Amino acid sequence: MKKKVPFFDLTPQFKSIEEEIKSALDEVFKTQQFILGSHVQALEEKIAQYCRTRYAMGVASGSDALLLSLMALGIGMGDEVLLSPFTFFATAGSVSRLGAIPVFVDIDPKTYNIDPTKIEEKITLRTKAIMPVHLFGQCADMNPLLQIAKTKKLFVIEDAAQALGAEYKPTAGSEGRRAGQIGDLGCFSFYPTKNLGAFGDAGMVVTDDSNFAEKVRLLRVHGSQPKYFHKWIGINSRLDTMQAAILLVKFKYLEKWTTERQKKAERYQRLFEDLSSSVNGFNLPTIQYQNRHIFHQYVIRVPERDRLKKFLAEEGIGTDIYYPVPLHLQECYSFLKYHRGDLPNSEKASEEVLALPIYPELTENEQTMVADRIKAFYKRRAQGV
Ligand SMILES: Cc1ncc(COP(=O)(O)O)c(C=O)c1O
Repeated sequence: MKKKVPFFDLTPQFKSIEEEIKSALDEVFKTQQFILGSHVQALEEKIAQYCRTRYAMGVASGSDALLLSLMALGIGMGDEVLLSPFTFFATAGSVSRLGAIPVFVDIDPKTYNIDPTKIEEKITLRTKAIMPVHLFGQCADMNPLLQIAKTKKLFVIEDAAQALGAEYKPTAGSEGRRAGQIGDLGCFSFYPTKNLGAFGDAGMVVTDDSNFAEKVRLLRVHGSQPKYFHKWIGINSRLDTMQAAILLVKFKYLEKWTTERQKKAERYQRLFEDLSSSVNGFNLPTIQYQNRHIFHQYVIRVPERDRLKKFLAEEGIGTDIYYPVPLHLQECYSFLKYHRGDLPNSEKASEEVLALPIYPELTENEQTMVADRIKAFYKRRAQGV
């Protein structure tokens, strides 16, 4: 019987820290405090330090981190926010929730991140912010984007949901800037499959600005301070104590797990070297500027993506597609009147990308199996099968 390689498997990671998690939860059960509290505060301190920002605020999800950041900046009805359409829906959904308008900017086809050269032409008098997404674990090209934001007086919210610990553009003698510390506010998701994943939904906002920090802190509790006195109209987006306790345990291993992901990515790179030079259109992930890529996903790009995906599924290899439909072509955004062809790089990427299994516990054997099966697909193809 063929051994299967799942696209993703959290079980081995849980097994390795099961006792620690259980005792952390026991501690919470004894206190009977379930909302915010000292565990959340401890996690906020760790994440702020890790992202090299002054403040971090735990919230209920990555989606809420985006929503609350936009709210803290006062973005609302009719305001325009520039973002990539090649992302998870929450990036644009958070903008729309506030009555603001997502304005889609095409991507760089190599990094899949927003193309800074295409931003300026989309700016109008109503533009308030740019929301770059650090897709798959690599930072967007922030320097030119920040320059535009500065000139045009726009806010920058980083959607760093997939990029905890990623660094942008190290230079000789200094490490790169961390995802989340580059813009005005940075947003993270601790969705279970993220590099640092909770046992449910959880998220975080980071910033260096004390006003934004205070505002997010209040907005996550319905804008109230003191209790039952409401300064702003906020939402309920508190981080659970249990999730924070779990994340504090897992945080200790984050660097080790990131290194493991990077090693697997390097190994894929080596295993696929021959294919990328011999097969037309077979593309491996590109690392720009020697960025610190944390490989939340390892995404290859091939014109025959659907056939390859089907073949791999038959061979017991799990893969996934991030993202099959760019946001400007989603049904719910038909009122924005975009058409196929408007953002060609995003559209083409959505037809060609394929995410391969990558997680810290993926074994060498499993990885070899993934590569072997992909090579088998191209061998058959070369033979005309
Ligand atoms: C790029 C991006 N933005 C936002 C989110 C939303 O995060 P969450 O699922 O925690 O709400 C995610 C994660 O799913 C994401 O990948």
